[in-house]
Amino acid sequence: MKFSYILAALIIIVNCTTAPAMAQVFYPPKSTDSTPEQIFKNNCAVCHGDNGDGNSRASSSLIPPPRNFTIAGDLTREKMIYTVTNGKPGTAMTSWRTRFTPVQIEGLVDYVRGRFMQTAIQSQLTFGRMVYGHNCQLCHGDKGQGVLAKDLKVAPRDLALAFAAGDLNHTRLFEIITRGLPNTAMPAFSGKIPDEQINAVIDFLRDEYKAVTPPPSVLPSAPAANMPVDMSLPMPKNLVGDPQWGGEFFMNNCSVCHGTLGNGQGPRSNFMVTKPRNFLDDLSRTTLNRPAIFSAVTLGRVGTEMPAWGQVLNDQEIANVTEFVFQNFIHKKSTP
Ligand code: HEC
Ligand code: HEC
Ligand code: HEC
Repeated sequence: MKFSYILAALIIIVNCTTAPAMAQVFYPPKSTDSTPEQIFKNNCAVCHGDNGDGNSRASSSLIPPPRNFTIAGDLTREKMIYTVTNGKPGTAMTSWRTRFTPVQIEGLVDYVRGRFMQTAIQSQLTFGRMVYGHNCQLCHGDKGQGVLAKDLKVAPRDLALAFAAGDLNHTRLFEIITRGLPNTAMPAFSGKIPDEQINAVIDFLRDEYKAVTPPPSVLPSAPAANMPVDMSLPMPKNLVGDPQWGGEFFMNNCSVCHGTLGNGQGPRSNFMVTKPRNFLDDLSRTTLNRPAIFSAVTLGRVGTEMPAWGQVLNDQEIANVTEFVFQNFIHKKSTP
């Protein structure tokens, strides 16, 4: 008894989500469609909603529900063109290739992106920029080569040139970033950062090298810590830092963001969403003890452009630069 109910229910569900049947029911072809806006209203809005947010009469009965474009910042233009042309198997999204010309489909996708997706696209790019700052910038730099490039046997190719050569589509980038490049320092990021971040950094790079305007500042800086901190704690792992080595390293590699004075106003800071930490302010002086600096330098600050130096410096080197920051900026007034 029970079993046949379940079976019946399954058959109904399967029938409901069989894509071609749905599309036939909803959409008699309309010859009046001409502008992308009209095409969207007459053919897509019934599922994706008038505002592109997936809020439509059809949405509650479809599994999966139609895409909400207003939060789908990870959808690339190519992927959308592909899906609209070919449909998406296992969903109610059918192929439109017999209804519209390729040019109409491109126009339609650009309309959807411009009209509904701007905010989502911008925040995806901001996210990608941070992933880049955190994981890639040390070697690849802002444009071209990063601070570590000169120490590598095979220096990273200027990404602008690689993109200009036209061989870096999404699939190729995903492959390079997840698997790395053999015989070079290009690491395999598979398992180190989630796919979501890899996709974001790809979107960021592709956008960056198309010279589109950068995203606006949307993300807040890190919250202040309120816990009292023991500022006299020693360096982790019994290390003793060499502030002279650290100072040289700081001036060559950190001052571009944190400033030569440690005030967070290095030349790059103007362009950054979350500003580099000012080591002279009260918050820094009451929270950034040696272990905190050591850990921040090693791991970077997730969600900002602060790189994870642990990927390229050893513990002793990190202790050196930590000691320099601590003595020269944090504890300037009363040396321990
Ligand atoms: C019958 C309902 C329906 C109609 C009509 C419809 N879609 Fe969809 N669409 C869906 C569903 C369902 C999905 C899949 C959502 C998912 O996988 O999360 C989808 C997904 C998409 C995606 C995302 C593709 C991806 O790879 O994830 C795009 C882009 C899209 N639709 C564009 C359109 C456009 C443009 C039209 C009009 C020409 C249209 N859709 C008409 C139901 C519909
Ligand atoms: C430790 C240094 C290092 C880090 C970190 C690094 N790369 Fe690389 N990358 C390289 C080197 C070296 C190459 C190979 C030289 C070359 O052919 O460009 C390379 C090559 C590449 C290429 C291929 C360029 C081409 O010439 O076709 C891409 C794309 C790329 N890296 C993206 C990234 C991204 C994205 C990240 C961060 C998620 C990253 N890299 C992190 C050093 C690095
Ligand atoms: C590309 C720019 C950039 C570079 C280069 C950089 N930083 Fe940062 N740094 C940041 C940003 C952004 C933050 C985050 C500020 C925040 O969260 O308020 C930060 C935060 C920090 C913090 C505080 C972390 C915390 O937990 O609050 C320390 C310490 C620090 N950086 C040290 C360094 C040192 C040492 C170097 C060089 C080895 C360096 N940074 C290089 C951008 C940079």
